[in-house]
Formats: sequence, C-alpha cells, structure tokens
Amino acid sequence: MKKIALLTSGGDAPGMNAHIRAIVRTCLARGIEPVGVFNGFQGLMDGNYVSMNRKSTINLIDQGGTILKTSRSEEFRSKEGRQKAFENLCKYDIDGLITCGGDGTFHGAHALSNEFGVKVVGTPGTIDNDLFGTYYTIGYDTAINTATEAIDRIRDTADSHGRVFIIEVMGRHAGHIAIDVGISCGAEYIMVPEKADDILDLQKKIEMMGDHTRTIIIVGEGGQYGGANELAVRLKINFGIDAKTTILGHIQRGGSPTVKDRVLASHLGMASVDALLSGKTDVMVGRIYHEITYTPLVETWEKKKNIQDYLFNLADILA
Ligand code: F6P
Repeated sequence: MKKIALLTSGGDAPGMNAHIRAIVRTCLARGIEPVGVFNGFQGLMDGNYVSMNRKSTINLIDQGGTILKTSRSEEFRSKEGRQKAFENLCKYDIDGLITCGGDGTFHGAHALSNEFGVKVVGTPGTIDNDLFGTYYTIGYDTAINTATEAIDRIRDTADSHGRVFIIEVMGRHAGHIAIDVGISCGAEYIMVPEKADDILDLQKKIEMMGDHTRTIIIVGEGGQYGGANELAVRLKINFGIDAKTTILGHIQRGGSPTVKDRVLASHLGMASVDALLSGKTDVMVGRIYHEITYTPLVETWEKKKNIQDYLFNLADILA
C-alpha cells in the first residue's frame, strides 16, 4: 500500500483528532502517504482530499471535534453516490480507507467494500458506545465525564431546593451513557431504552424520597416515555409531581478528550493502519481490555452490545 485515506463521519466525538494524529503518524512511520478526506463520505464523493503530514497533526491530541470535519451524507446512501466515491478513490490512487464513526459510518464502509472491493477498516468513534466488538468507543469516556460534571452541578441546586430533576443524556437508542452516568452521579433513578420501565415504580421512588429531598432521574434518549420533557409532563399530569428538566445535548460531544479517549484513539489509530497493511478489510478495529480486536463490520451493528444486568441492580441498590 502506498496511500491510505482517512475520514471521520456521523456525529463528532472527542478523541477523533487524537485518532487522526495517530493514523497520520503511523502511516508516515510505515512509509505510506496519509490522505485526509474532508466532510466524511460527502468529501469522498466530492473529491475533497488532502495529503497530510506530521505538520498537519501538531497540537492536535487535546483538541475536541475533528479537523477533517464530518457529515451525515444522504447522497452516499445511494449506489450512485458510492460509485462516485469509488471513482474518486481510484482517481487519487487510494489503496485503503479508514473510516472513524458509528454504525451509520460502518454501514457505508461495508457497502464500499462489498460493492466495489475497497479495502476498508472502520474505527469506533461515537459517544454512544453502542458498537459490538469493542469495550469502549472513542469519545465515550469524555462524554460520560462531561455529563457527570454537569450533573454534579445540577445536584447542588436539586439538593438545596429539594427538587426532582430529570436529566436527559444522549445515546440515540442505547443506554450506555445513561447507566454509567447515573451510577457515577448517584442518581436515584435511571431509565434506558433497553429496559421497560414502569412509571408507577418511578412515582413510588420519588414519593419514597419524600418532600424537600432531591431526586435525580437520568433518562437516556429513545426511551419508552420519551425524553426529559415528556416524562416531566407525565409525572405532573398523572401524579401532580413537579420536576425540573435539563437536556444535556451536544455539550456531551464537545471538549478536550480525556486521557482514556486519547489513549484509545492512539491505539486504534496505529492498529487500523496495521490492519490494512496486513490485508484485513471490512472489519472494525476495537479494543477489549488490552487486546486489539477485529470484528466484521456487519457484526458491529447486528450483534447487540448489551448493558449487563448487574449494572441495573448496582444502580438500584446504591440509589
Ligand atoms: O450518535 C451520536 C449522537 O450524539 C447521539 O447520541 C444523538 O442521538 C445524535 O448523535 C444526535 O445527532 P445530531 O448531532 O446529528 O443531531
């Protein structure tokens, strides 16, 4: 291989820049030209490619976001769009492609490999941590730390006023952020999309806490009762319970990556280049404990990364 292209796609995640740095520097160490593609798959189709060097990655390891930018491209969902991308990959003599993102990104990468034989390796970059085949995804650790810090502040107010607070965290259809953040904040109640909840159970919990006692409820996106606002309305209408709401939103995606995310991004950066060099394709490079793992892209979304049951039990006992 002489040229490896890299792109970031889908929602940005803290650590993507550290990852780009690691890919570029590994390529250079192996005598390969790294080519950055701007705006994810959209840039792949638009021919938005740039040759990268050591200088392009200076002072990058601590930066949030992604210098290569990102997008969720509609055009790439069509075969015509992917054909365009393939033609550009040929035009620029790209021998292998590394795509960092979540399951949407991996669907796209798999299609490129499947339809056109592009040598492609996916790396897990999403705050949601919802990919099978890796213990953590790049960005997850920073997101849960950011959310925890924000909720610690809310707890001060909740505690001082004895209020019920419902705090909504991201995760799309996965409750990994909710469960970990709930445990780390000592939340009284955690709701995740993977588990059916009973609103009467929640009501009981709030009433058990008693008046003038703070109650922190963490709600993951995509749950059966909707988000924080919908849940607050339900509690008011059904039980006359007043609850304040906070939607943490995109603050969870920003900021300087934690040590864990920088280290993970670095490991996976080197491993992804080496995976391509050793002939691997159509796989995600992940990490489980200290081992680098290779999971067929299809399995990363078809197999489910479940939240272990004991975590619910732990949260419940400690609440
Ligand atoms: O996949 C990451 C994520 O932040 C999800 O948690 C969330 O549902 C979604 O992206 C939001 O996407 P967007 O920034 O495009 O609105």
